[in-house]
Amino acid sequence: MSSNSKLYLVPSILSADPGSLWDDVEEAIEAGIDGIHIDMMDGHFVPNIAYGILTIEALRKRSSIFLDIHMMVKNPDPLLKKIADAGASNITVHFEACNNIKKTVSEIKKLDIQAGIAINPDTSAKNIIDMLKDVDLILAMTVYPGLPSQSFIPSVLSKIKEIRKSINELGLSTILEVDGGINTDTAKLTVEAGANMIVAGSAVFNNLKPTSDSIEELRKSVL
Ligand code: DX5
Ligand code: ZN
Repeated sequence: MSSNSKLYLVPSILSADPGSLWDDVEEAIEAGIDGIHIDMMDGHFVPNIAYGILTIEALRKRSSIFLDIHMMVKNPDPLLKKIADAGASNITVHFEACNNIKKTVSEIKKLDIQAGIAINPDTSAKNIIDMLKDVDLILAMTVYPGLPSQSFIPSVLSKIKEIRKSINELGLSTILEVDGGINTDTAKLTVEAGANMIVAGSAVFNNLKPTSDSIEELRKSVL
């Protein structure tokens, strides 16, 4: 995942059924997704607990697909190596959760995996512009992190445009990912604003439609 010309679709397993996780993931992989987004939540940085290292290991045993780890964890540094060893392809840490974001990013890169920085809806792009060249990915949260099925926050679109402009002006291939409230209506808005990696949880894993149909519809909505 190094070019920014392709559009990546990476469903979040937060809305999958934990009782049939692999079946859900396998169906999504067969439908042609580009990666799996795994939300790790520590109950401190966000008011929820979610997937951990064992889940990364279990999915990696079953697939070589890109595993996109979104750490909603305060002071993530002590966990980075364990997550990389478990099979992560990428670790994205929150700007707001790190004491020294530059050091954390360089620790991730030393593990020979991709590194990303996530920013909350009310965190200014100015905080991360000087690090665009150091990371593989910027994740602009389009909801406040912690829960699935929240409503997309449209005011983040201007920030997505601002980050895309900087990436292009600097001639970088940094991926611009969006996460939260993404569905067939909002995905298009983010892509038009400059996003090229789309995370969707409840729009992919739900009881309304087969997962493969939801993936197909989401992909078509951004073509
Ligand atoms: C929210 C998580 C998301 C979540 C998105 O804090 O980071 O990845 O799964 O869920 P939806 O797509 O339902 O908003
Ligand atoms: Zn996420």
